[in-house]
Parts: sequence; structure tokens; C-alpha cells
Amino acid sequence: MTGATPIGIHDLRVATGAHVVELSELADTQGIDPNKFLVGLGQQQFSMPAHDEDIVTMAAAATAPLIEKHGLDGIRTIFFATESGVDQSKSAGAFLHALLGLPTGIRVVELKQACYGATAGLQAAIGLIARDPRERVLVIASDVARYDLDSAGEPTQGAGAVAMLISADPALIEIEAPAGIHTTDIDDFWRPNDRSTALVDGKLSIQAYLASLTGSFDDYRARGGAEADTLASVLMHQPFTKMAAKGIKALSAHTGVELPDITPTMEYNRRMGNSYTASIFVALVSLLDADAELAGRRIGFYSYGSGSIGEFFSGIVQPGYRELRAAEDVPAMLAAREPLAIADYRELHETTEFASDRDIVLPVTTSAPFRLAGVTGGARDYTATAV
Ligand code: COA
Repeated sequence: MTGATPIGIHDLRVATGAHVVELSELADTQGIDPNKFLVGLGQQQFSMPAHDEDIVTMAAAATAPLIEKHGLDGIRTIFFATESGVDQSKSAGAFLHALLGLPTGIRVVELKQACYGATAGLQAAIGLIARDPRERVLVIASDVARYDLDSAGEPTQGAGAVAMLISADPALIEIEAPAGIHTTDIDDFWRPNDRSTALVDGKLSIQAYLASLTGSFDDYRARGGAEADTLASVLMHQPFTKMAAKGIKALSAHTGVELPDITPTMEYNRRMGNSYTASIFVALVSLLDADAELAGRRIGFYSYGSGSIGEFFSGIVQPGYRELRAAEDVPAMLAAREPLAIADYRELHETTEFASDRDIVLPVTTSAPFRLAGVTGGARDYTATAV
């Protein structure tokens, strides 16, 4: 329990990029058996942002409906977590703040630790709300996963954002107090400041993910966390869904408890691809939309960010969670993405980054509610698409 006041995720929304790439087509053009991607990695497609989309526009698309539904009362903080920041100094949240026309009395800050950052934001939000339960905090996870063309990581690309409203007396998930942490300095995945694509030692990252999983679970238990056999499901960070399957198998072996089948947590990530910080919360939405029997049940969360931090924590699904979610929203959003032929995908991949030393006006491509209009004097210009 989190003490006198239950605190957790009150509501959340998902957004993704305008385009979709079929992994069976990518495999065909590379002369690879498609089952390596579909079965071996557990991935079917990946989302790709249009030229005039990025982490800010996806984040705004996820956040706007949350604000429309729940208002701004008590929102004094936005934590924007991302690995794929658009500026070395200015928080992506500052761009989002302007784009959504938010009031001045909100602190915005960007959090970075590979795919883990949004979990840090969630825990920090809970701390702020414990101090003053009238406050609510927006925690936003938004990322574009980019690897080099023709690299082993290429089929695990993706893009997506999740915006979460964290509050006292949450309608969706109460986050329990115990949290287990496992931090080590390791070069399994990283992105130097001069690169737009990640460097990765894929096999090492799999080992590090699994070592952090058992390490953080043991710390969770040592700090009063629940026994493994009380978990109705476990949400794992899903860089590719087979990784989560490896994780649940490893945790079952480690605890001696046959943990539940987590296939329902994988449906959306299988089609969106890796969304880094957002991935574990996309898994949460996937589970809540698929399973009607979770009210009052405990679910585990395993958040992993290369470099590395693993954190294991748990939450209790609140009664009435099904009424809060429109389960058709995410499937409709995924179905609406525009398919990209492989040649077009490759061209977009190579031209999506641009230098800031000249002004650019981007043509309108996306039909999402917000877009990147261009760059003026080195600064990015965002706009509502309808404007
Ligand atoms: N049919 C079915 N499965 C197949 C297959 C086929 N024709 N060919 C290969 N496979 C399986 C392999 O057995 C393997 O499964 P396993 O790990 O359960 O044994 C899987 O597909 C991947 O094959 P592998 O040869 O290991 O792929 P790879 O060397 O090209 O790279 C990653 C895989 C994950 C290392 C690579 O995609 C990567 O670097 N991704 C980014 C990093 C990442 O996401 N790390 C995760 C932790 S954060």
C-alpha cells in the first residue's frame, strides 16, 4: 500500500507515428526468413513517424485528450521522459507546453535513462502527490526507436507515446509502495550526442535485461514487495515482444512460481515496435484492453533502461477500469497508419533528421492533430495541424 492516500495512474492515452512498416516485407527485401522477425523477435510491424512528426507531436496527440477529459486542475508538473530528445538543453515538455497552450504555473522537465525514464517520472510524481494530494502530475513517455539501416536492431525500431495522469485516488491503477531497483554501468545500448541512431550490443543487452529483472525483483521482495504467486500478470519492457517472453520465463524459473501467460500484454507493442520509455505502458494498455477480469488484481511492472537501470514494482487494478478505457481506440489508431513500401521507408529513415543551421519549412504529411512545421533560426516550430 502507498499509505493513507492511494496514488497511481488515473488515466492514460497512447499515440503513435503516421506510418507503418511490415516486417515480412522488410525480411523479403533482405532475403531473410520472415519468421525470424515474426516468431524469433515476436514483432509484426513497426510504426514510423512522418517527416513532420516527432516525440513532441506524438506526446501532444496523447496528452491533449487527457487534458480535455480531466481538465488542468492541480496539474503543476509535467515529467517528459524520452531517449530521443529533440534538443540538448530545452525540455521536450517545454515545446509541448506551448503547443497545448498550457498555463505558466506548470514545471516541465525532461527525464532520460534509455527506456526507463518514465518509470522515474511515475515514482517522482507519486512523491509529489504524497506531499500534496491535491496535485496531479502528467507523466509523458515518447520515443522514436531508430537503428541503422540493415543492422540487427533495424526490425526492432518503432515509435509511440503514452501520456499518463497521475493522481490520488486513481481510477485505473494504484501503484504500491515497494519498488526494487537494480542499477549497473554497462554499455549494452547507448547513443552518443553526435548520433541519431542507437549503438547496441544486442546480445549483451538481453543478458543485462534479464540480470536486472531478477536483481530488481529480489530487491522488490526484500523491500516488502508481494510474493510472485499474487501477480495476475507482469508488464515487461518490450524492446521486442520475445524479450518479454524470455523475461517471464526467467522470472518463473527464478521464483519457482509458474507466472501467468503475458501474451495479452504484447499485442500493441508487436504492432507499434519499440517505443522505448513508452513500451511498458503500451503493454499496460494492451493488457487492460484485452482482459476484463483484472479488477482488484495485482500486476507486476518490470521497467528496464539500458546503461542500465531495472525497476520492479506493482500496482492494483481499480474497479471500473473497463469503463474508463475505450478498447477500440488503439486498434483503430494502428489500423489507420499509412503503410510504407520498403524503398520509401528507407528514404524516410535517411532524411528524417535535419541540421539546425538553416531554416526549413516541412510540407504537411501527417494527419495527426499536431505537427512539426519546420525550423526557424535553429528553433523547432510546432503547430496544431488544423491551423
Ligand atoms: N524462425 C524462427 N525464429 C528464428 C528464425 C526463423 N527462421 N531465425 C532466427 N530465429 C530466432 C533466433 O533463434 C532468436 O531467438 P532466441 O533468442 O529465442 O534464440 C531470434 O530469432 C533472434 O535471432 P538472432 O540471430 O539472435 O538475431 P540477431 O542477432 O539478428 O539480433 C537482437 C537480435 C535482439 C540482438 C537485435 O534485434 C538487436 O540488437 N535489437 C536491439 C537491442 C534490443 O532490443 N535489446 C533488448 C534488451 S533492451
